[in-house]
Amino acid sequence: MARKKIALIGAGQIGGTLAHLAALKDLGDIVLFDIVDGVPQGKALDLAQSGPVEGFDAKLKGTSEYKDLDGADVIIVTAGVPRKPGMSRDDLLEINLKVMEQVGAGIAKYAKDAFVICITNPLDAMVWALQKFSGLPANRVVGMAGVLDSARFRHFIADELNVSVEDVTAFVLGGHGDSMVPLARYSTVAGIPLTDIVKMGWMSKEKLDQIIQRTRDGGAEIVGLLKTGSAFYAPAASAIAMAESYLKDKKRVLPVAAQLSGQYGVKGTYVGVPAVIGAGGAEKVVEIALNSAEQKAFDKSVASVEGLIEACKKIAPKLA
Ligand code: APR
Repeated sequence: MARKKIALIGAGQIGGTLAHLAALKDLGDIVLFDIVDGVPQGKALDLAQSGPVEGFDAKLKGTSEYKDLDGADVIIVTAGVPRKPGMSRDDLLEINLKVMEQVGAGIAKYAKDAFVICITNPLDAMVWALQKFSGLPANRVVGMAGVLDSARFRHFIADELNVSVEDVTAFVLGGHGDSMVPLARYSTVAGIPLTDIVKMGWMSKEKLDQIIQRTRDGGAEIVGLLKTGSAFYAPAASAIAMAESYLKDKKRVLPVAAQLSGQYGVKGTYVGVPAVIGAGGAEKVVEIALNSAEQKAFDKSVASVEGLIEACKKIAPKLA
């Protein structure tokens, strides 16, 4: 069987890390695309030279030509600009929307059958625009945010309780922004909901609330520390988990930004929900019953995504 082809649009901090992880995990041959001449070629060559040491045979190619995406099975998009300290993800909207238009056209021309994972921020609005610009079916265009947000939540919980991250699961709904909704009663330690962990006295309610807030601010905390860019190791690992579930038809249930068609009372907008990721792309959106406080928080998050989508329509009227 021929190797799969993974194309990474954007060969910056996340793009390079994606290429490294995809090669180490032997997911397939890798194309690194960027508009800055030399960067994708240089990173591809450097990574290829780690192959003999690591023992992977993936072919790596760096390019600035869209035709090299031809026939890609998976495309992961990080093209655009990241945040600087003091900026919100929303501040990136105008510039990254133009990038999505170019990328969408390239995908439409050369990789119509791909499964596309968008990482570029502001995530929920950019994945919405990318689906429109590319014209690919919505089940094959998803955004990566929830896997990262829940990984941050899991890390903080495991660290606080001094237990293995493997035994902590987390559930995060909503947009990838300050209004994201980490759900404590669906997040567990070895199956025990965090709400029960608080009742058992293993963690205080105040500590849990602090962790929830730190999860919401997780991206900004790293931007503040790095000063010259945003997080890249955990975002890359998260998108690779999604790509792997698609390529291996694992049917993992992962929190992803998916286009809703009535679930959770939302139509047409992309927002973070649990979905089954398999060979059919986002095969099924899992709809859980929310209590009134959760629904209110979710609605607020959806409203903020819808606000960004309206802003996109003003900048690019053909999206309306
Ligand atoms: N086409 C292709 N690549 C582009 C384009 C374009 N039109 N515009 C910019 N790029 C490339 C840049 O040259 C750069 O190499 O996208 C890359 C982005 O890489 P970084 O600046 O290192 O940003 P990174 O940390 O990888 O984050 C990328 O993901 O998490 C989000 O907010 C983050 O939107 C940002 C994106």
